[in-house]
Amino acid sequence: MPASASANIGVVGLAVMGSNLARNLASREGNTVAVFNRSPERTRTLVDEHPEAGFVASESYDDFVASLAKPRTAIIMVQAGKGTDAVISELASRFEPGDIIVDGGNANFHDTIRREAEISPTGIHFVGTGISGGEEGALNGPSIMPGGSAESYETLGPILASIAAIAEGEPCVTHVGTDGAGHFVKMVHNGIEYADMQLIAEAYDLIRQGTGKSPAEIADIFAEWNTGELESYLIEITAEVLRQVDAATGQPLVDVILDEAGAKGTGAWTVQNALDLGVPTSGIAEAVFARSLSSKRAQREASVDLPGPSTTWAVDAADADAFIEDVRQALYASKIIAYSQGFDEIIAGAEQFGWDVKKGDIAKIWRAGCIIRARFLNRIAEAYADDPSLVVLVVAPYFRDAVAGAQESWRRVVAASAASGIPTPAFSSSLAYYDGLRAPRLPAALVQGQRDFFGAHTYKRVDKPGVFHTLWSGDRSEIETTPSSH
Ligand code: 6PG
Repeated sequence: MPASASANIGVVGLAVMGSNLARNLASREGNTVAVFNRSPERTRTLVDEHPEAGFVASESYDDFVASLAKPRTAIIMVQAGKGTDAVISELASRFEPGDIIVDGGNANFHDTIRREAEISPTGIHFVGTGISGGEEGALNGPSIMPGGSAESYETLGPILASIAAIAEGEPCVTHVGTDGAGHFVKMVHNGIEYADMQLIAEAYDLIRQGTGKSPAEIADIFAEWNTGELESYLIEITAEVLRQVDAATGQPLVDVILDEAGAKGTGAWTVQNALDLGVPTSGIAEAVFARSLSSKRAQREASVDLPGPSTTWAVDAADADAFIEDVRQALYASKIIAYSQGFDEIIAGAEQFGWDVKKGDIAKIWRAGCIIRARFLNRIAEAYADDPSLVVLVVAPYFRDAVAGAQESWRRVVAASAASGIPTPAFSSSLAYYDGLRAPRLPAALVQGQRDFFGAHTYKRVDKPGVFHTLWSGDRSEIETTPSSH
């Protein structure tokens, strides 16, 4: 029987993420952790394997809830979707006003908004929180992105701060905003993660195909890059992945892994919501589509004989180092665009859903613990500290200078990839976005003309206010009109 009301925090769902989070919580001074899992065997195994944690284990919801001190606080770590709703309803039917239900899974933020709206009239707090860092992060210190009410954060904040990763002395957790803000920001984190991974993969592919270097040699290049401005967890693990040799065949492991990338869906959500918000997150979108394309086996097989460039492309040995440096610069510039686009989506989401998201604080809590942790997040935090209303990240002085220094390389790399027939959707779309941003005039004017021609959708003029429609088929004169509803 669990001790009565002795735990200050509980965890429901003890698969790897939940178990590790519970162990992390238990290892911190002042926490007593209640644990519960639908199948009790898992609970017993966890408790047996980790006596040092002093878990308060329960085998029923009644006992679990009774084991929690007030205000009761429980973190749900089950698979996102219906399973989460079932656990929420079990807890909500036993919790009292002031108690806190936390969903720590990768939930869709629209679900989080709905759940919060359903639960808050009961006086129980519902907090959707992003938790990043995988299994290792959950155990040793993740980056944590809680939403929900400010009131709930008074209780929850110190508990989460006790287990979060630490970056430059600061715990990687902040109250992101109300209701679904935490899961929204975690979603965008994952979108950036997709872009970062795809960009690194494109850099690898270009170097390998252009210079003929082996995966192990490219691992050394990534390890070297990881000592400079590209320093990040994803670059670090890429070097390790490339260095890995397959035990069965003796081949580089990367050569025996099937080239079809999976996806659980958070990247697609980032793009779907960017479309809804009208935010051009093209680098992230290309990264999601690159995974989709990789999995279209039948289409790829049907297309292998489609014509490519007539000449075979190779970088001269004497130019290899310069080419690799170009790729590094292209990667850095494209990465800046990916983060800039991600922050754009956060700004648009905050505006749409009424969240007071502090961009600089988000950059700070991503500096450690999470998958996209990177040295240059300090620069993003500084950019937003210098100018909290920065209209787009890439124009902040540091990033402007970084892209100015990289852009010639970036253009050479994108040109080489087009000429050689090596697909670089994320590099190329990031450059196109950059050039679109800086263009003083875009061909969107022609698109407006086309729209007005076939649908009388109207347009605005550069030289006078008002909304206009041209009588295209008649005397081609122009009439001032009210905006079309088409
Ligand atoms: C993290 C990761 C984690 C996971 C995602 C993405 O922040 O710890 O983003 O949430 O890796 O599920 O996985 P997919 O690549 O399968 O979408």
